[in-house]
Amino acid sequence: MAKRDFTVDSIMVTGSSSGIGLGLVKQFLKLPTPPQWIFAAVHDRDEEKNREINNLVSQNSNLVLLYLDVTDRKSIVAAAEEVQKYVGGSGLTLLMNNAGLMFNTTLQDETAKEMAAEYAVNTIGPLQVSQVFLPLLKMAAERSPQEGLSCSKAAIINTSSSGGSFELMGQFNRLQNIGYRCSKTALNMLTRCQSLVYKTFGILCISIHPGWVKTRDPEADLTVEESTQGIMNVLSRLSEEDNGTFVDWEGRRVPW
Ligand SMILES: NC(=O)c1ccc[n+]([C@@H]2O[C@H](COP(=O)([O-])OP(=O)(O)OC[C@H]3O[C@@H](n4cnc5c(N)ncnc54)[C@H](OP(=O)(O)O)[C@@H]3O)[C@@H](O)[C@H]2O)c1
Repeated sequence: MAKRDFTVDSIMVTGSSSGIGLGLVKQFLKLPTPPQWIFAAVHDRDEEKNREINNLVSQNSNLVLLYLDVTDRKSIVAAAEEVQKYVGGSGLTLLMNNAGLMFNTTLQDETAKEMAAEYAVNTIGPLQVSQVFLPLLKMAAERSPQEGLSCSKAAIINTSSSGGSFELMGQFNRLQNIGYRCSKTALNMLTRCQSLVYKTFGILCISIHPGWVKTRDPEADLTVEESTQGIMNVLSRLSEEDNGTFVDWEGRRVPW
């Protein structure tokens, strides 16, 4: 990964009401040159759930709250129309498909209903959000003076998990989470497909493992701050040679 300056004109993060999504929004707000527009997408209109992100919106004129359910194409289209109003002809530089769903299941008690719900959010969600936002990402890539692929030009970052890695089988002894694992493995295949097709439009696509983060599990290794700070460093360094790869929050390649 080559080091490069990190300026992003605009970014959208799905699943921004909590955890890593909220942490990423905070990191972008803290950049020396923050994006002109940061779109924090949430899917629940619950006031209490959105309290922290709403506070940030009231303090930052470049932060916009959007409602987007990654399983509902209509809401994705409505969000893209909203984004278009703000960015005009500049397009959207960075799409972070962060929203995720996980049920604690075992091989024995996994159900079709839970597994389908995980696929809907973790795999089909990033597919549909990327499809709908593609014209805006293409616009950003076309307008960028930069050579080669990068997050400053146009990129899709799919938040995957080492739990979806065949080789690592992250945390399998603690949590089997069959549907979740399979949905993240399928997401990795989506990343590979996107990387082959979208590179022709100047859009970089990767899968990222954020580490094992204390969002729900207090025993996890990393704070949200540590993980998202690491992810920012990785994003700033990604270049053409990283297109279609699976990396972790420290920039190390994760085996498929
Ligand atoms: N934490 C870890 O150790 C870890 C490890 C590997 C990968 N990841 C991945 O990192 C991402 C963020 O996870 P997290 O740990 O920050 O968990 P989290 O706090 O549960 O965040 C997940 C976010 O996704 C949102 N979401 C769920 N269903 C959605 C839908 N249909 N449409 C739009 N948004 C939806 C949730 O909103 P609501 O709360 O309103 O439902 C929430 O804001 C996920 O993709 C997860 O799989 C996390």
